[in-house]
Amino acid sequence: MSVMEIRSAADSRLRAMPKVELHCHVEGTARASTVAELATRHGVPLGVDDPDDLYTYGSLADFLNAFGVVCSAFVEPADFHRLAYEAAEDAAAAGTRYREMFFSPGFHLDRGVPFHVMWEGLASGVADGETDHGVRTRLILDVDKPKGIGPAMALLEVARTLDRDLLIGIGGDSTERGLDHHIFEPLIAEAKNLGLKTCFHCGEDGPAENIEIMVEAGVDRIDHGTRLLDLPDLARRVIDAQIPLTSCPSSNVEIGIVESLESHPFDEQRVAGALVTLNSDDPAFFRFDLADEYERIAAVFGYDHEAMVSIRDNAIDASWLDDTDKAALRAEFAG
Ligand code: ADE
Ligand code: ZN
Repeated sequence: MSVMEIRSAADSRLRAMPKVELHCHVEGTARASTVAELATRHGVPLGVDDPDDLYTYGSLADFLNAFGVVCSAFVEPADFHRLAYEAAEDAAAAGTRYREMFFSPGFHLDRGVPFHVMWEGLASGVADGETDHGVRTRLILDVDKPKGIGPAMALLEVARTLDRDLLIGIGGDSTERGLDHHIFEPLIAEAKNLGLKTCFHCGEDGPAENIEIMVEAGVDRIDHGTRLLDLPDLARRVIDAQIPLTSCPSSNVEIGIVESLESHPFDEQRVAGALVTLNSDDPAFFRFDLADEYERIAAVFGYDHEAMVSIRDNAIDASWLDDTDKAALRAEFAG
């Protein structure tokens, strides 16, 4: 066997490994070809000749701008169905079997797309994606943090009425810059009252202090948490409580949060005992999938297959499945 053959055998082993993903935005899975087709159908200007050009940026602000443009192509229930369905199809190709996936109503409501249009399309797309591609998906409603606490609480009112077999949690994304994260404390408290799980993007383009605020607020998971080790006492607390981090190292590189995968704190966090998981964040935007992320991280940090299995198992532990379902997934993955 040549070196290349050995390498590609290792790669396909990681691709075939059944996986769980906890940090992926459904809008971030939108294929450029789908966005282009829907934009033409609905007469929505994308501002580029080649839709692939949408997926280039040098900062989180650029990225979020592109994210908004991509969202604008989705108008009807059938569009959201297609978005969720293709997300499942692409996830299956990466070996993903279970996914807790964000959707971002703020971006769609802003354009006059009613909540039920998005929800009905996503729900049927998730169901058909599971039937046809074997990817079980549950949804997390992500509030757009810069809009503030008012719109976030209004979305929580809507969430109250949704099917809890599908909607399992509330999160918050977008930039941390210029935002006092204390304002989201009532959102987390009320979501918990409603029996929803909670997570928040923090410690990505903002400081570790934002992680501390959200830990104090009682979130169940930290999305990114890249800056966690900047505050050793906080890190100790997060590690002792095994509050999971949904890490997205390649996303952090693409968006310019860290310079390179080599300099990403993922390994340091793992060695320190943090419950780290690997995730793709916005795979279509970054042109890689979860299997690629596993392969890159294994290569960069020299992890053997056993280490990658343990990182995958972290995602089962960190998921919001109940203990019976977690045990069933572990048995299924071992079989
Ligand atoms: N929304 C989608 N991807 C995101 C990211 N990496 N950071 C903040 N908000 C996002
Ligand atoms: Zn994210």
